[in-house]
Amino acid sequence: MNGLSRRGFLKHASQAGLAVAGSSALGPFAVAQGDRVTRVAIDSDRQIAPISPYLFGSFLEHLGRAVYEGIYDPGSKFADNNGFRTDVIQEVQELRVPIIRYPGGNFVSGYHWLDGVGPKKNRPAVLDRAWNTLETNQFGTNEFVTWARLAGAEPLFGLNFGTGSAEDAAALVEYCNVAKGTKWSELRRSHGYDQPHGVKVWCVGNEMDGPWQIGHMPAREYGIKAVDAARQMRAVDPSIKLVACGSSGPFMPTYIDWDRTVLEECYDEVDGISLHRYWGNDEETNKDSSTYVAMNLAMDRQIREIAAVCDAVQARKRSSKQLHLSFDEWNVWYRARGGEFSNGHGKPAPHLLEEQYNLEDALLVGGLANSLIRHSDRVKIACLAQLVNVIAPIMTNEAGVLRQTIYYPYAWALKYARGRALIVSPEGPAYPVASLGRPVEAIGLPSPGFGDVPYLDVVATLDPEKKTATLLVLNRDLEKSRSLEIAWHDLTPASVIAFETITGSDLKAINTFADPKRVVPQKLDNPRAGSKMSVDLPPRSYSVLSLAI
Ligand code: AHR
Repeated sequence: MNGLSRRGFLKHASQAGLAVAGSSALGPFAVAQGDRVTRVAIDSDRQIAPISPYLFGSFLEHLGRAVYEGIYDPGSKFADNNGFRTDVIQEVQELRVPIIRYPGGNFVSGYHWLDGVGPKKNRPAVLDRAWNTLETNQFGTNEFVTWARLAGAEPLFGLNFGTGSAEDAAALVEYCNVAKGTKWSELRRSHGYDQPHGVKVWCVGNEMDGPWQIGHMPAREYGIKAVDAARQMRAVDPSIKLVACGSSGPFMPTYIDWDRTVLEECYDEVDGISLHRYWGNDEETNKDSSTYVAMNLAMDRQIREIAAVCDAVQARKRSSKQLHLSFDEWNVWYRARGGEFSNGHGKPAPHLLEEQYNLEDALLVGGLANSLIRHSDRVKIACLAQLVNVIAPIMTNEAGVLRQTIYYPYAWALKYARGRALIVSPEGPAYPVASLGRPVEAIGLPSPGFGDVPYLDVVATLDPEKKTATLLVLNRDLEKSRSLEIAWHDLTPASVIAFETITGSDLKAINTFADPKRVVPQKLDNPRAGSKMSVDLPPRSYSVLSLAI
């Protein structure tokens, strides 16, 4: 788009003296460097919350090759009658992705949904100004809902709050969710979709706090528009759930103030607020991998901070409603970023944001999954950004699909973070991460360090239906294995279902189409199941231990 890019804006903010120094204070607790053992007691009655079925959703934007050549490619040998790539659908089905956000992202803020419905031959080719890409509109609302249902996922729609009006938003809800007998529902029916789509969750705009966003506006103005849109949308379908647009990240100069102001206006009209954040092993970590694998603690912090803002506004309004959090963009993203990586040069389906993920990225993504699980009480929706080709776990070429390294921790989260999250308080050795540098979000405001960071990041889940308990453990020690001693208070695991790890000697190892299995899960020797258990976690690893109970 013309004007300020996200990167450019943040660089400017930093140069303008908005940056603050990171904390250098170490935590108050002694670091038990000598001890290699972490101990955790697990009591199945001590539960954080049920894990939301939408905790590990994903995201597909009209960006680069995510849609075109990613999920929709009529010319591909894998295409079905709809032009959908069946090999990609199979991957998404196998993952069991529960909910997928669409169509953006920055793209949505200039998108007219009417361009993407009706007979394909009549749809206009439009220049998408967010990514300077030719949007052919051969894939739109109806194709996405059809595709998502085939893939086994709920659609989560983003709304255009940039060039779009509140009335446009309500019209899209009517087009999607009203059975028949109204202008927009009859239009859908005339397009061949007799049944309503039943889209439950809607994001009320995208990153409207960012000067890079088409139609960027001040918080108060956004909040007032959100109220108007919410009321119009709910008049059409009272059952929908709405997510207000929160800060684009803690690096924003308006972080917290934006969220507070927006919620002061629209708290009563929405069900949740969005959080976004991307990480990288760059200036923020001083390219230090020990610091990098601790960065999921920044996600914990962001969740706590935004939850606190929601609760402060709730108290001020004397409201009985508590908002949930929708972490609807999170991932590693720092190499394929800005400049040529973000410029489609007016062409269709350009190669944009095609980040290649390595082992250390997979470890951090595992840590980020742990952070989401331990905030199951507040985070009810989260979307790994994104799903295919664009900062994605799944890549495509003409010959097939590739699972990037981050596919595996994401797949484990989807498989094992089911049922309930348990309260665990592991005790064990830690290492200092006293300060952080400038964030990967292109030179925004830095956050303080974390003090003492535990080597082992442990979460536990319990699935009473399947009678399983699972631990997901990040070993941040890059040199040595670490032991975890588990004491089960009220359960005695009967057997080990799975004990696997993602690890390797080279933190920078990647999977490629030519060498797709450099970083894949490896089986570990099963420990003896029982009320007291001890496991060794390899250095540089993210592991799952799943038990029958
Ligand atoms: O996911 C890529 C981009 O990151 C999205 O379009 C935008 O919302 C965020 O800045």
